[in-house]
Amino acid sequence: MVTRRDLIAGAAAFSASAAAGFLGVARTVEAKTKAKAAGTPEVIAKPIANGVKSVTFDLAERPTALPCFDGKTLPLWTFEEGTTFPIVRLKLGERFDTVFKNNLPVAGEVASIHWHGLRIPNDQDGVPYMTQQPIPPGAEGRYSFVPPDTGSFFFHTHCNSTEHFGRGLVGVLIVEGDEIAPPDAEYVLLMKDWRIGPDGAFLPFTTDEGAARSGTAGTVRSVNGEKSPVITVPSSADVRIRFYNLDPMRVSEIGFENAEAAIIAVDGNGIPPMPLESWRLGTAMRLDVLLRTAPKGQSVKLFDYFSKEPYVLAEFKSEGPAKRKGKFKATPLKVMPFAKLDEANAQRIPIEFSATPTGAAIAENASNSGIEIGPLCLTKHTFWAINKQAWPGHEHKDLGPPLAVLKAGQSYIFELKNTTPRAHPIHIHGHTFEVLNSSVRRIPRVRCDTVLLLPNERIEVGFVAGDPGKWMFHCHILEHQEAGMMGYIEVV
Ligand code: C2O
Ligand code: CU
Repeated sequence: MVTRRDLIAGAAAFSASAAAGFLGVARTVEAKTKAKAAGTPEVIAKPIANGVKSVTFDLAERPTALPCFDGKTLPLWTFEEGTTFPIVRLKLGERFDTVFKNNLPVAGEVASIHWHGLRIPNDQDGVPYMTQQPIPPGAEGRYSFVPPDTGSFFFHTHCNSTEHFGRGLVGVLIVEGDEIAPPDAEYVLLMKDWRIGPDGAFLPFTTDEGAARSGTAGTVRSVNGEKSPVITVPSSADVRIRFYNLDPMRVSEIGFENAEAAIIAVDGNGIPPMPLESWRLGTAMRLDVLLRTAPKGQSVKLFDYFSKEPYVLAEFKSEGPAKRKGKFKATPLKVMPFAKLDEANAQRIPIEFSATPTGAAIAENASNSGIEIGPLCLTKHTFWAINKQAWPGHEHKDLGPPLAVLKAGQSYIFELKNTTPRAHPIHIHGHTFEVLNSSVRRIPRVRCDTVLLLPNERIEVGFVAGDPGKWMFHCHILEHQEAGMMGYIEVV
């Protein structure tokens, strides 16, 4: 019997050679805890003391020829040399220390790192001006925290994000320890498009037309830096797939054709396994799936059903002896202890997402004037608002009023109301909420940190206010965020 660890080691060996030159050579500091997916790179956090791991990042421009660039080299911005999308793995309970140097090539290009989905103390949340001073080029920043939950998280900068994502500056953070029955293998799939012109150079990352509508779409799709990669998997096996939508704007709806699969976690939070028909993911949303792979020699395709024609995101090709016989049955993941929502006594807070008059006018009658980025991480244009308040009216330094002031430990229900004809993936920092209901669809009660609010939909989410501090609350379509659809709540 081949163990999961053997498979993992095999995949790592494959990947370290196959990935060299495009996704980068995996650094293998800590061989034992490493898990690899074909084609996904991995940064291994170094153990520096008992129960503590650390990484050193060096944010810089690195010309890179990903396979999906068709031979072209583009000036990506990455967290470290040799890896395009780093994957950091921790075990629940471990402390994680990060030192990062800002070596981004643009004068005044400040940085900070936000740990998306993690419920960590407010001063580690990585929002420039609000939870920390931004780190200017040439300077160094640090973080140290113990993630309180297992799950599939990620990290990104929180300033000029449309360009940063557009250049590839995102990384994956996985907190392990939720598996009761280990799967036969695990894969991380990171979906992200790129805006590349016919000359092989980056197109402008944002446009007024895009920012005022659903975002400016990429021209090249990719999963782990490849176009529809074929990933070798064990035959008739139960494999865990951590699917990340890290595009700046795209909504996708993922599903398998002719395969048994179950959703086991949403945004990293374990749920009672539920058959995967298809599941919609806006930007920043994640889905953990358990898939029964095809018999030897056959394959299973993962589709995006949201695009005009179903689009093959990836293909899982089975090789080697069958791992399992018998019926497919997903074992639930361990569920983390969250404070229980007191639904009956929760205070209800209406939050409305709308377009500004300028935004609405541009959306209807686009003139693409090109967009300028102000000094404080925001476009100068405001197309969107939350509760009629468009963020750029106030600088980060000089915060406007919070959307709401909440008391730590108390239950709240946010009534999210979308009055626009666009979908908005709404994200809260430092918390997760339960989706309670929708005005237009049946929606399972899942816990998440980002919820996709469809055009003209109303969704209620409930949560218990966590640690004190100012927590960002915004649309994760980065151009929407930067054009006003951003605010914060204050927990006292
Ligand atoms: Cu990934 Cu403020 O968010
Ligand atoms: Cu939005």
